Amino acid sequence: MVERTGAFWGRRHGKALRLGQRGLIDTVLPALTVDLTQPPADPRRLFPVAVDDVWVESGFGGGEHLLALAAARPTLGLIGAEPFVNGMAKALARLDGSPLAERVRLHPADSVELLDWLPEASIGRFYLLYPDPWPKKRHWKRRFVSPVNLDRIARVLRPGGEFRFASDWAPYVDWTLRRLLDHPAFAWTARTADDWRRPWDGWPGTRYEEKALREGRTPAYVIARRL
Ligand SMILES: C[S@@+](CC[C@H](N)C(=O)[O-])C[C@H]1O[C@@H](n2cnc3c(N)ncnc32)[C@H](O)[C@@H]1O
Repeated sequence: MVERTGAFWGRRHGKALRLGQRGLIDTVLPALTVDLTQPPADPRRLFPVAVDDVWVESGFGGGEHLLALAAARPTLGLIGAEPFVNGMAKALARLDGSPLAERVRLHPADSVELLDWLPEASIGRFYLLYPDPWPKKRHWKRRFVSPVNLDRIARVLRPGGEFRFASDWAPYVDWTLRRLLDHPAFAWTARTADDWRRPWDGWPGTRYEEKALREGRTPAYVIARRL
């Protein structure tokens, strides 16, 4: 069943969680969850260790990319949003007992709620990787990229910060580029036609990307800078 909360349209539950996964949701997740009932504060203060910047990933799936970023950048704090409980359980299994958990915070719901809570100009990057493409025309309004969500992303990014988007669904890539080019707060950073065909440096890939490549689809990578 497709559920809707704000910008989230999709499944919150997949296969029944195993007992261990249920335990992670009940015991590990609460300690890592960003408390949106508190007044918004500098997101660097959400972490028990000093971090010099905070990046956000919307719809992190099983957390592969989020955790790879945390591992590759030891001074960074990361916040990931994922309403799909089975994906969250996978990420928690990776985080449980890991030192990376000190620099990762989670929002187990729609990332729009997180965007609306974060203070203005408070994060360095916002990642949207392989968002649900909603190919049918009658579902296009469910796509995460919309003028209003670009406004939300623009509000929380610092000038010079980046919105990073990847997708294997060419019509959604065009859709996103068109809306970014129309948005006064963003500039597409591509210099050559090749820029959007090659992933950016340090790209660890994602599960959906692996599937897309296996099935012969061509991903595109977009970096838009906050002006
Ligand atoms: C196609 S999957 C891609 C997962 C992962 N990024 C990857 O590349 O492997 C899209 C994910 O976005 C999540 N999602 C959809 N709408 C969302 C929203 N409004 N906020 C946060 N996550 C969302 C879904 O639950 C799903 O796990």
